[in-house]
Amino acid sequence: MEVMEAIQSRRSIRRYQDIPVDDKAVEAVLEAARWAPSWANTQCWRFIVVRESDTKSRLADTLIANPDIGEKNPADKAIRTAPVVIVACAEMGKSGFYHGEASTDKGDWYMFDVALAMQNLTLAAHSLGLSTVHVGSLDGKKAAEVLNVPEGFRVVEMTPLGYPDQQPKPRPRKELAEMVFYDTWGNK
Ligand SMILES: Cc1cc2nc3c(=O)[nH]c(=O)nc-3n(C[C@H](O)[C@H](O)[C@H](O)COP(=O)(O)O)c2cc1C
Repeated sequence: MEVMEAIQSRRSIRRYQDIPVDDKAVEAVLEAARWAPSWANTQCWRFIVVRESDTKSRLADTLIANPDIGEKNPADKAIRTAPVVIVACAEMGKSGFYHGEASTDKGDWYMFDVALAMQNLTLAAHSLGLSTVHVGSLDGKKAAEVLNVPEGFRVVEMTPLGYPDQQPKPRPRKELAEMVFYDTWGNK
């Protein structure tokens, strides 16, 4: 699939068919994540592939609802029922650091690097006919306990991975004119 087509036709999918995803497909999407760029090539990301139903349910229990939308995170059922859940973790104190010191005003860049890897993963999944949804509204400490994630690492986000059982319309995007300036801030 051509890159621009993949970017524009990917959707967040929250309903999945009861069809297994084989190890080869899981490895293919993880390979796409592996090739993401990262701060000084530090590759702080780690991924946990979850297939056990009980673990998926315990992960869904860590999700946080958006009170403007409802009582549950909209991805709750997807995390419980998709054939695979991939949890993205990060090692702290690597991205954004030189000689152990945060070198920019942003501190630890782990969120940025994990996002790049997960963007690769979601687009690769889409190109293989698989679907995903970034799920970031969660209690990372509880999710880390469920998965035995060690000290020094954090759970950043998770995504279900499976074959879609819905075809949502694209969510609207702001026009470029609302987000792009030329030469200096505010100059259109
Ligand atoms: C950082 C991040 C966190 C997100 N967290 C959640 C979440 O917790 N639950 C959920 O259902 N969707 C979540 N989403 C999905 C967004 O709602 C979705 O990407 C957005 O509405 C645009 O829709 P689209 O992905 O279909 O283009 C998240 C997306 C991002 C980038």
